[in-house]
Amino acid sequence: MTTPASATTPATTPGPAPAPRTAAVTGAEGFIGSHLVEALVAAGHRVRAMVQYNSFSSFGWLETLPKEVLDEVEVVLGDVRDPGSVNGLVRGAEAVYHLAALIAIPYSYRAPHSYVETNVTGTLNVLEAVRHLEIPRLVHTSTSETYGTARTVPITEDHPINTQSPYAASKAGGDRLADSYHASFGTPVVTLRPFNTYGPRQSMRAVIPTVIGQLAAGKRTITLGDLRPTRDFTYAEDTAAAFLAVGTAPAGAVVGRTLNAGTGGEISVGDLVALIGKLMDAEVEVVQDEKRVRPADSEVMRLVCDAGRLRAATGWAPAHSLEEGLARTIEFFRDPANLARYKTDLYNV
Ligand SMILES: NC(=O)c1ccc[n+]([C@@H]2O[C@H](COP(=O)([O-])OP(=O)(O)OC[C@H]3O[C@@H](n4cnc5c(N)ncnc54)[C@H](O)[C@@H]3O)[C@@H](O)[C@H]2O)c1
Repeated sequence: MTTPASATTPATTPGPAPAPRTAAVTGAEGFIGSHLVEALVAAGHRVRAMVQYNSFSSFGWLETLPKEVLDEVEVVLGDVRDPGSVNGLVRGAEAVYHLAALIAIPYSYRAPHSYVETNVTGTLNVLEAVRHLEIPRLVHTSTSETYGTARTVPITEDHPINTQSPYAASKAGGDRLADSYHASFGTPVVTLRPFNTYGPRQSMRAVIPTVIGQLAAGKRTITLGDLRPTRDFTYAEDTAAAFLAVGTAPAGAVVGRTLNAGTGGEISVGDLVALIGKLMDAEVEVVQDEKRVRPADSEVMRLVCDAGRLRAATGWAPAHSLEEGLARTIEFFRDPANLARYKTDLYNV
C-alpha cells in the first residue's frame, strides 16, 4: 500500500542512489571467502576481491558465482605476503575482511615457514595498510584451533590460548598482532574467531567434505583419521553472516574485541559419519588411516563454542541446524559438476 503525498508534505525529488560501499576481501576465492563475497553483495556492497596470484588465471570458487554477483566484484590478483599488493587492495575500502590464510593443519607440519609468512606476516601487512590508509574497519579472522583442546566448555573468549599445531600458532600470532595494533595505534580491528565451518565449496582437507565427497563418489568404505574428537560445526552461510555482522556493527560494539562464532552444538567425528550416512542413505564402513591421525599432543580433542558475546554485540545467531546444513552440502557434492572439481581418491593435505 502506498501513502499519497499530502499538501503539508514537501515533495522530494529522489536524489542519486547512495554509492555502494566497497568492501575488500582477502581469501575471497576460497571456501568461506566466496560465501562472504555473496553475502556482501546481497547486502548491497561492491567487493574488491583479492585472489592469490597464480599462473592458471584461476579465480577459484568465485568463478562459480552467478553473474549478478560477479557484476559487483572486482577481482584483484595479489598476495598478502606482499605489502604493495595489500595496499592496492584496501585503498578506499570502507571495510576490509581478512580471510587469506594457509589453513590445513597437516600441511603446517610440513611447511611451517609458509604458514608464518602467510598468516603472521600477511596479517601484519594488512594491519599496516589499514592503519596507514585509515580504513574505518578491519575484520581479522582467527580460528577456534587457537584454544586447543577445551579445558572448560562451552569455550568463551576468556579460555586460554593453547596452540597445538604450527597452523594454530601462526593464526594466534596474527591475532596477537591485531590486538597489539588496536592497543598501540587504535587500529579499528575486530577479530572474528569462527569454530569449524562446513558447506558447499569446502576443500576435502576437512572432515565433512571428505566423508560426503567419498560417499557421493560411490564409495562405502571411507578412510578417516581419529573418530573421537568433537567439534562445533557452523554452516558456511551462517559464518559469512557473522563476518558481515561484525563488519557492519557500530564500532563501539565490536572494535578492539575478539568474538567467537559457533553454534554451541557438539558432535564427535564418529557420530558425524553416522549422521551423514543416514542422511545419504548409505551403509558406511570407516577404515582408520594412520597418516590421517595427528600426533597425540597436536590433536584438539574437544571444541564447543560460546558465542554469547557475538550474539549480544550484533544479534547474530546461526540460522541452519546441522541436519539442514549437511543436507545442503550433500546436495552440492551430489551434483556431478561440483564433484568433478574434487580428488576423492586422494588424501587431500
Ligand atoms: N574452514 C574452517 O572451518 C575455518 C574455521 C575457523 C577459521 N577459519 C579461517 O577462515 C579463513 C578462510 O578459511 P577457508 O576455510 O575458507 O580456507 P580456504 O583455504 O578455502 O581459503 C583461504 C584462502 O586464502 C588464500 N590465500 C592463501 N595464501 C594466500 C596468500 N599468500 N595471499 C593471498 N591469498 C592467499 C587461498 O588462495 C584461499 O582462497 C582462514 O583465515 C581460516 O584460518 C576457517
